[in-house]
Amino acid sequence: MKIYMDYNATTPLRDEVRSAMVEDLAVYGNASSMHTAGREARSRVEEARRQVGNLLGVPAKTIIFTSGGSESNNTVFNTIRRLASDAHGTPLGSGRRSIITTAIEHPCVLNSAKFLESQGFVVHFLPVDGEGKIHMDQFKKLLGPETLLVSVMMANNEIGTIQDIGEITALAKAAGAWVHTDAVQAVGKVPVNAADLGVDYLTMSAHKIYGPKGIGALYIKEGAPIFPLIHGGHQEEGMRAGTYNNIGILGFGRAAELAKRDLSQYGKTTGALRKKLRDGLLAGVPHIKINGHPQDVLPNTLNVSFPGAEGEAILLSMDLAGIEASTGSACASGSLDPSHVLLAIGAGPELAHGSIRFSMGLGTSDADIEYVVETVPPIIERLRNMSTIV
Ligand SMILES: Cc1ncc(COP(=O)(O)O)c(C=O)c1O
Repeated sequence: MKIYMDYNATTPLRDEVRSAMVEDLAVYGNASSMHTAGREARSRVEEARRQVGNLLGVPAKTIIFTSGGSESNNTVFNTIRRLASDAHGTPLGSGRRSIITTAIEHPCVLNSAKFLESQGFVVHFLPVDGEGKIHMDQFKKLLGPETLLVSVMMANNEIGTIQDIGEITALAKAAGAWVHTDAVQAVGKVPVNAADLGVDYLTMSAHKIYGPKGIGALYIKEGAPIFPLIHGGHQEEGMRAGTYNNIGILGFGRAAELAKRDLSQYGKTTGALRKKLRDGLLAGVPHIKINGHPQDVLPNTLNVSFPGAEGEAILLSMDLAGIEASTGSACASGSLDPSHVLLAIGAGPELAHGSIRFSMGLGTSDADIEYVVETVPPIIERLRNMSTIV
């Protein structure tokens, strides 16, 4: 028995993506070369760019390929640093030095923001409410003529809460700020149209949508400034140097095409599985808490706190029973820190330590949910009986 319920960490390659990539292994040309082999490789890269743009509802020319979500996010923060590096302010930076982001971002945004803070920027890490939504009135108060960037994730990777990016963007643009959203977890699960949202930058990653690891994209609205993070050759119109990762890009394009085709069905199927899991756990385990927003939440993500049981112990017991999920907590240099997201929604250290993220996907079946709903209650009961933290 092996049940994978960690699709927010990464997804397996879809069969169609794997076959397309295997076929592409024979295409050896450098996509920047002028000859036939190079042009063949290049046409595949450009086709993938169209597929990724199409998934986001934007023209292919607004997409650059990167090594993943982390690099895309770093590219945006590096651009902001460069915009402000002129003491008098470039026309696009206008001397602004303030950044607004949230307390629940992925570490690649949080740590990019902290780096800019160490470089003299004023960074506001917006708190969120008990369901993971930013406080709009606090956001409005912080926005001002000094705001250079607003970066708010579209959907949270741990609790699944979806922010109102359209509204946030409209307010930020009215204040003259650049707007970025990390949509790594939203793309492929809920509709994401970068043009309709109005954002200047949007980050996505292939391995969360059944594509390969090590490849991602950044949408850059026409006219929005961009500075390369990686200097070198003229690839990606000089915005991201390095020989094209043809096979990764091709797999990403194919995964994006399938994600677009299957989007509404994906939401319905994973949404039904999530409901079944939630109802089953609520009925089978006393005193649990479902984390995240009740409606504005990713259809595939269920984060549950099990007070009186410890997250890592639950995880290991589930793993022994064949269920692979994750805790909200990150294991950093040997010490187990409670999740910054769960702390931000006010969970308190005990609940934050006793939480599990179940994330479902294409391979999840009704039978899997039934097995989880049968297997988890006795695990929690046993751990609660052993626990000293009840
Ligand atoms: C919200 C979010 N942003 C960024 C990333 C990083 O993406 P990548 O693994 O492609 O660097 C992740 C991956 O876990 C994520 O969940």
